[in-house]
Amino acid sequence: MSTGYPAGAGSTPLAADGERWIDLRSDTVTHPSAAMREAMFTAQVGDDVYGDDPTVNALQAYAAELFGYEAALFAPSGTQTNLIALLAHCGRGDEYLVGQEAHTYKYEGGGAAVLGSIQPQPLTNQPDGSIALQDIEAAIKPHDFHFARTRLLALENTIGGKVLPQQYLAQATRLAHARGLATHLDGARVCNAAVKQGTTLQEAVKGFDSVSVCLSKGLGAPVGSVLCGSRELIEQGKRWRKMLGGGMRQAGVIAAAGLYALQNNVQRLAEDHANASWLAAELAKIGVLQVSVPHTNILFVTMPREACEGLNSALAAERIRVSMAPTLRLVTHLDVTRADLEHVAAVFAHYFKQ
Ligand SMILES: Cc1ncc(COP(=O)(O)O)c(C=O)c1O
Repeated sequence: MSTGYPAGAGSTPLAADGERWIDLRSDTVTHPSAAMREAMFTAQVGDDVYGDDPTVNALQAYAAELFGYEAALFAPSGTQTNLIALLAHCGRGDEYLVGQEAHTYKYEGGGAAVLGSIQPQPLTNQPDGSIALQDIEAAIKPHDFHFARTRLLALENTIGGKVLPQQYLAQATRLAHARGLATHLDGARVCNAAVKQGTTLQEAVKGFDSVSVCLSKGLGAPVGSVLCGSRELIEQGKRWRKMLGGGMRQAGVIAAAGLYALQNNVQRLAEDHANASWLAAELAKIGVLQVSVPHTNILFVTMPREACEGLNSALAAERIRVSMAPTLRLVTHLDVTRADLEHVAAVFAHYFKQ
């Protein structure tokens, strides 16, 4: 029986309907490659709630060293590693500073407020994704019982596919520390940021007391994230993870995929970035489209509203999936090839020529 998975990284799998789609909705849609599946198949496992799973332990040790922290914790999702970090850094009645557009604030169900009684203080994201230093400074509340206690600055890199400049990150984290705040990075795509800037992963997370890294996005693992931080923070994190239902048993089966991803799929992100740039340049040739210049693997396209529905149907007829609302978002990843993108560009060009 065919598995639909030819050998090798980047082999595009079949979708649930048995057909091959070019799926540009997100880099979360990648399927594990044959080599990654082999690593999962042969993984040694144990009960990770007892700390007995050798593959989970290997992943955690590898991630901690790779990103330059004392310890790391494997959890089912980036939402959970971000929430664990917020719960470990802040207590009830504390506050964290966060961008209006940040995933932790906008797209994670308000978990910090709902489950942690942590007040978010959302701040405007500038067009480059940063939060202005003066906005951070102004938002830190004085020690006064009228106010929530400002405890943490949380940033995201990449944010909307944009890479925050290293100099800005150094300034923002220095400011936070000088004012007694801890710092957390939602580094769901921090590997993209590092590869784009040609820095090491340790340089990319410098200044952050903790970082959450998603293994299931551009890195191509089917599930999982790691939280890196001090030994003390990770010990607290373990308790929160258990409480949130993230204590998994023979999790080595999925940790093996994450370990494989960190060991094999980081540098190849440059390919996704080159593909996104190539596609942006092609689409920009179509007069009515406004196309963002991608920093990494995400590009946005604005087009006349009336074109949206027809375009969606035209793309679907060619088995191409994109995120349509509110602006068209296209994300490159290891399951789309340059040849796929040539086809996508041709379908767009044909549609807008009509
Ligand atoms: C920037 C960012 N942070 C966190 C997450 C959450 O990851 P997960 O979907 O694994 O919960 C996402 C998911 O898309 C994300 O894009």
